[in-house]
Amino acid sequence: MRILFIGDIVGKPGRNALKTCLPRLVQEHEIDVVIANGENSAGGSGITGVIADELFKNGVHIITLGDHTWDQKEIPSVLEREKRLLRPANYEEDVPGRGSGVFQINGFCPPIAVLNLQGRTFMKEVANPFRVALREVEKLRKETSVIFVDFHAEATSEKIALGRLLDGKVSAVIGTHTHVQTADEEIFPGGTAFMCDAGFTGGHESVIGREIEPVLKRFMTGLPQRFEVACHDIRLKGCLVVVDNETGRAIDIKRISEYVR
Ligand SMILES: [Fe+2]
Ligand SMILES: [Fe+2]
Repeated sequence: MRILFIGDIVGKPGRNALKTCLPRLVQEHEIDVVIANGENSAGGSGITGVIADELFKNGVHIITLGDHTWDQKEIPSVLEREKRLLRPANYEEDVPGRGSGVFQINGFCPPIAVLNLQGRTFMKEVANPFRVALREVEKLRKETSVIFVDFHAEATSEKIALGRLLDGKVSAVIGTHTHVQTADEEIFPGGTAFMCDAGFTGGHESVIGREIEPVLKRFMTGLPQRFEVACHDIRLKGCLVVVDNETGRAIDIKRISEYVR
């Protein structure tokens, strides 16, 4: 199975990049499944039902989220009705939505399980992602051997630690949230593809997807600023993971970085 994962889609420039690049990427890399992190797809803050539908229409099969999950007020009802939209699994048990799902994308591949988790280092308090990961993976492995994890976290150490914990138990652990693509892609000894961060999809003449000036003003003065979504130097970032259908072990992982002209 050939999985394309797309890092945090930021605002309209990010969504347009997806629309422009995805058909070609899918064809070029013979992609079976497209997973994208959509936590910044609505003007940089969260996601709406309309925008989720737009991403699905443009070729994304499963959307993951992160610490911006609750930014849009309509999201609880969207999460309740849309099974292809996942929020981190390590939230309180009675909040809306799901943290994982098993999806049959086409008849040629086994089902793929996707698990979304959020880190705790330099981030808001959530349940222990390591313990929730083990519990969820045990459950998902009963349904399929192909399991993809989006670990939405800030600290590289926390991401690597989770990758090591799940090595041999899942097909891939790929990080999101920092918006900076890392060059550490590898396959761990147990057969789990790993990469600290997929990067983001949107305007790169920016500070992680936002216009530079207001961010600088905020750092210089400490005063609150409106952070507009950046719209120049648009790139799509992510990774390609190739997985053995029988065993669920990763065979290959490659960084993806596309300039949108
Ligand atoms: Fe993000
Ligand atoms: Fe985030």
